[in-house]
Amino acid sequence: MTTPAPAPQRTALTPPAGRKRLLTGDRPTGRLHLGHYVGSLANRVRLQHEYDACFIVADLHTLTTKPEPQFIKAIPGFIREIVLDYLAVGIDPEVSTIFVQSAIPETYELNLLFEMLVTVPRLERLPSLKDMARDAHLDTLPLGLLGYPVLQAVDILLPRADLVPVGRDNQAHVEITREIARRFNLLYAPVFPEPEALLGDVPTLVGTDGAAKMSKSAGNAIFLSDDAATVAEKVRGMYTDPKRLRASDPGTVEGNPVFIYHDAFNANRAEVAELKERYRAGQVGDVAVKARLAAAINQFLEPFRARRAHYQAHPLLVQDILAQGIRRMQAEARETMRLVRQATGLSYSAELFQDTIDLFGTE
Ligand code: TRP
Repeated sequence: MTTPAPAPQRTALTPPAGRKRLLTGDRPTGRLHLGHYVGSLANRVRLQHEYDACFIVADLHTLTTKPEPQFIKAIPGFIREIVLDYLAVGIDPEVSTIFVQSAIPETYELNLLFEMLVTVPRLERLPSLKDMARDAHLDTLPLGLLGYPVLQAVDILLPRADLVPVGRDNQAHVEITREIARRFNLLYAPVFPEPEALLGDVPTLVGTDGAAKMSKSAGNAIFLSDDAATVAEKVRGMYTDPKRLRASDPGTVEGNPVFIYHDAFNANRAEVAELKERYRAGQVGDVAVKARLAAAINQFLEPFRARRAHYQAHPLLVQDILAQGIRRMQAEARETMRLVRQATGLSYSAELFQDTIDLFGTE
């Protein structure tokens, strides 16, 4: 005898019908910085009002290069930091869903089925995987790292997301996701949307050292959670026009990280215009320009700090936000797997065996 499957759980977070679902996220490997903000967080904060926005903290993906227990031990702290960063920048838990990948058991299940729908050479051709292997000092690809994009496809398709805002480095992974969805739908039944990548065309933010990209590992990042004194100190040490020895020398504004940051973060446009003019004319020193920048970045970060402090003071609130997000995603995942089992014919497993086990099983 089969008991009817429970109706998919609807929660207060279920969005108004007709809204497209968006999913993106990050691996919890450390605090987020200004580069993350301009590159994707600002976009997410904006998009959350147009879409049913879901943000995944992809902890299982970190195992593809770091499976060691001492690293796993650090994950909960990283999850907490990243969720605080999300909330601090204005991801609104009333309209968005924040959840943790490993809390959705169907992730492992769907991953196995998707592995049947993609070939090894297709994955081996991806430059992103070789880059990750190199960065992790691995000279051959572990099977799990080769499967990184497959697991990402699971993240995207388990909640049947339509849109995936990512950077160029992840574009190929969304393409694989589309291929897997197409293959599944053709082979079995149309269960999945073919999600589209939403590429932000924001240029990457330079590091404080003038290197092409702000990154945690390069030590050239200003973190969203840095306090005012730390920001001031980092800005004081910033790379600027190296040809300028005295404040009276005419300086170069174009490509100068100090002015790139002024453009990105200083809300006082008139001040920025005036500083540029005086810098070019050799009428203002680097120290003064940097002092104005530190003040501007601190002003920019102030609302984030206030929100972060609020959530930090209420850890149970953060727990509850995650619990709600996870509960909602678990319901979505259960419903997707019901459709998947039906479409593939794998529902026989439950029908043939589980009911008997339930009937005769004792604790
Ligand atoms: N691969 C992403 C990164 O570069 C993280 C990620 C995991 C992700 N699952 C995702 C992004 C699903 C978008 C959608 O860190």
